[in-house]
Amino acid sequence: MLPPKIAASMMCADFLNLEKAIAELEQANVEYLHFDIMDGVFVPNIMLCNEMMKGLRRATRIPYDVHLMIVNPEQKIRWFDWKPGDIVSVHYESTPHVHRAIQEIKSAGAKPAIALNPATPISCIEHVLPDVEMVLLMTVNPGFAGQKLVEQTLEKIRAARDFLDTNGYPNVSLQVDGNCSFTNIPRMRAKGADCFVAGSSSVFAPDMTIAAACKKLRDTMQ
Ligand code: DX5
Ligand code: ZN
Repeated sequence: MLPPKIAASMMCADFLNLEKAIAELEQANVEYLHFDIMDGVFVPNIMLCNEMMKGLRRATRIPYDVHLMIVNPEQKIRWFDWKPGDIVSVHYESTPHVHRAIQEIKSAGAKPAIALNPATPISCIEHVLPDVEMVLLMTVNPGFAGQKLVEQTLEKIRAARDFLDTNGYPNVSLQVDGNCSFTNIPRMRAKGADCFVAGSSSVFAPDMTIAAACKKLRDTMQ
């Protein structure tokens, strides 16, 4: 199984204290900062933006993990300022030209990933597997933090991991996004997930410091 990684979900951070939050995430050696970009069309919410991401680069060297929940992402990849090591997820459901979107990400110098909503079958990713470094499985419906796990996505995690391994892609990472809580992460890990989007359910849980939450998360992910 691939080693576990934390992607801290920045839409769940305290916007009044972003610099402090990032310093604590650096201290905890989180692997990615996860940015949810929503356009109010693909998902029923509007969130985060390229200018915010650009500004925060001044505070961190942690690579970005950018989750594009926007229609026709292939037309917008170049609006962003990518750095080597960044990973960019596009939704299969967001465009008829998802392969073109993946090619755009590559030519912009970032690592492409393919994202699937809970109801989208895993077989959809078959023909893009040679081009992606990660598969993102939504474990809630995209758009909002603080939702409850869609339980049937647990078996989907196992099926996706099997699909990747049997098709010859054991090094493609499997990320899960939505309600990655201290209780759900061991269940997701047992099914084969290796990268956990940690939001209000864990890293930014209201009753803990970021440092304490990250420590607990590392123990939970093993
Ligand atoms: C959905 C978002 C959320 C969030 C994760 O599009 O990606 O899943 O960041 O945080 P919680 O822990 O609130 O589900
Ligand atoms: Zn996300």
